[in-house]
Amino acid sequence: MVDVKAIEKAKEHFGKILEEQLKRVEAMKSGQDWTDYSNLQRIKIGICGGDGIGPYISRSAKKVLEVLLQDEIGSGKVEIKVIEGLTIENRVKEMKAIPDDVLAEIKECHVVLKGPTTTPKKGDPWPNIESANVAMRRELDLFANVRPVKVPELGVDWMFFRENTEGSYVLGSRGVNVTEDLAIDFCVATSQGSDRIIRLAFDYAAKNGIDKVSVVTKANVIKTTDGKFLNTAAEVAKDYPGVKWDDWFIDIMTAKLIDPYRRKDFKVIVLPNLYGDILTDEAAQIQGGVGTAGSANIGKRYAMFEAIHGSAPRMVDEGRAQYADPSSMIKAAAMLLNHIGFVDKAKRLEMALEVCTQYEKKKVMTGRSNGATGDEFAQYVLDTVNDPDLESKWIRYQRSD
Ligand code: IPM
Ligand code: MG
Repeated sequence: MVDVKAIEKAKEHFGKILEEQLKRVEAMKSGQDWTDYSNLQRIKIGICGGDGIGPYISRSAKKVLEVLLQDEIGSGKVEIKVIEGLTIENRVKEMKAIPDDVLAEIKECHVVLKGPTTTPKKGDPWPNIESANVAMRRELDLFANVRPVKVPELGVDWMFFRENTEGSYVLGSRGVNVTEDLAIDFCVATSQGSDRIIRLAFDYAAKNGIDKVSVVTKANVIKTTDGKFLNTAAEVAKDYPGVKWDDWFIDIMTAKLIDPYRRKDFKVIVLPNLYGDILTDEAAQIQGGVGTAGSANIGKRYAMFEAIHGSAPRMVDEGRAQYADPSSMIKAAAMLLNHIGFVDKAKRLEMALEVCTQYEKKKVMTGRSNGATGDEFAQYVLDTVNDPDLESKWIRYQRSD
């Protein structure tokens, strides 16, 4: 027997979703200008510690920002604001992915540095609330998830542009159990949403003298949404005659990233949300693990910078949180500095981080008491930023000698 009532209920839910998504399309069409940080009297940076190891590694990253921005903070050009309350306990208490007061505080900032936050899944002791990341990306319209991965000795220098506000994610908490036996999720692609992320990737390539963009989908199977993404890429590419492009399916792409002969050919990679999530973890692993990778979530009005890994509650339970590796958060802090216009400071911080973690290795993070603490490591990075030999060390590292 077909359950007509259940079908009607699901249709109603679907109707509501369609209305919301069409409104979103209209909002995207009306457009918005990019924030011009150089024009702001004062740039407000919010720091959300998150939970698990989040508060520990965020504290280290905050210290780094405070030292690097000492003069600007002193003159009032930059303000750093700690935002409390983005913890799993508080989120559960409010039954909100991001409690309203926390979101309001975030929206008063121009950019945010965010520690990892726990994302419950079905069966966890926490109620199954939405991911704070997904909610923040949606609420602040942070449509581009930009994730660099670099391993000079392997010839790897990748920049991933993951679509961040659509795909299988955006309605990930809005799927329907039509009946006890039938579950349906939704995947969304819009022309505007695809265009803006693909254009950003081509723009980045063009501005940085990179001659190729790779577009990754599964358009042979997921024909409608991935099909739109791929078609949009073909259209956008016409505006960038100096940049070549090719298209790959996500399955073979995951294989090619570990193919030592082919992986050097990839440079800028643009892809829908879920594939981007998976592929960037694989890429980060090649670089040394997700703990080494930073991630920028960029929108026209706001931007948020974070680690790409989770909150590692086990490290806290085992009393090892102070040994958590803050590299990913420091990398995110460097991306933040670059985004708000402190390009030289960002470059120096990135160089120092690479020299500390990949070349000099005077302090090593092991996640345990036989390694450095996060605070010790952050101090090491800061000392290296001030090292007059930083540049020559970094050049030696790039040449891998
Ligand atoms: C990431 C994370 C998040 C995601 C989780 C925590 C929801 O894995 O930023 O890649 O899937 O996007
Ligand atoms: Mg991920």
